Amino acid sequence: MIGAAQDWLEARVPLDDAARRQSLPLLDHAAQALLDADPTGQAPLTVVDLGAGTGKSAAWFRHHLTPRLPDRHIQWLLVDAHEPSLEIASQHVADADTMVTHLSDLPTALGDYLPVHPAPGTLLLTCSAVVDVLTQDDVEAILKTLTTYQGLGLFLLSITADWHLEPADPRDNGLAQAFAEHQRQDGKLGAEGGQTMLRAARDHGVRATHGNSPWHLISPRDAEFTRRFLTERVAAAIEASPELEDDALDWLKTRNQQAAEHLTVTVDHCDVLVDARHDC
Ligand SMILES: C[S@@+](CC[C@H](N)C(=O)[O-])C[C@H]1O[C@@H](n2cnc3c(N)ncnc32)[C@H](O)[C@@H]1O
Repeated sequence: MIGAAQDWLEARVPLDDAARRQSLPLLDHAAQALLDADPTGQAPLTVVDLGAGTGKSAAWFRHHLTPRLPDRHIQWLLVDAHEPSLEIASQHVADADTMVTHLSDLPTALGDYLPVHPAPGTLLLTCSAVVDVLTQDDVEAILKTLTTYQGLGLFLLSITADWHLEPADPRDNGLAQAFAEHQRQDGKLGAEGGQTMLRAARDHGVRATHGNSPWHLISPRDAEFTRRFLTERVAAAIEASPELEDDALDWLKTRNQQAAEHLTVTVDHCDVLVDARHDC
């Protein structure tokens, strides 16, 4: 998916922020690794937000990383294949550079961007809500970049196949499977994205750990967002499995009514931290 709807990225900010609170232990780990790699804090540090979209994720990473790396100068670079999104991002993330590129070209593009080969532990790649829309080639390019520069990678909120609705409905599972199939179109990793990143890192002989950061949608507080989320999921599920249409629309009608008062939806995400430094 190149370029996400701006109003969708805006609407998900509070949910993403709440989910990413669960990612803070991995962020702490990444920040400590950056501090350990350069105790004097003199080396230039570059943070690259991949699939930056309109800049919401970079703003979150910056807000939480800056106090963890006091007095450290950080150069921010926002990367996305969708130029109009990056134009918006550059207005919101002050002093960040932007780069329009497809992630499969990241090693070359970053090589051109970086003035000198960075010291080990002075490059952090981040992303949020991106890995599930990538391909295997994109993941390989990201890992090649990390191993070339002995960098760190913190990849948050990759959607998995699991969701849990309360009250449960026997049709929940079939719709989840149809949605997961839709997400795998055009060679994308979909719900396997986070685990694929984790496996690929280990195959490269690089340390990698993971965590969970689910969305918790609670009615009536999140009724409007929940309705939009379920409506878009159902549209995608029907596109992948048109034979589900009648059942899916009936399910959606029921869920939209429940969203006004007593529906909770947990949407699972996988977070991955990769540390490609040698000898530490
Ligand atoms: C769901 S949006 C997330 C945006 C942002 N990270 C956020 O949390 O608000 C996914 C972004 O990844 C970008 N993207 C998807 N595949 C890409 C690829 N192969 N190369 C570069 N950007 C890509 C899309 O253009 C989109 O802006």
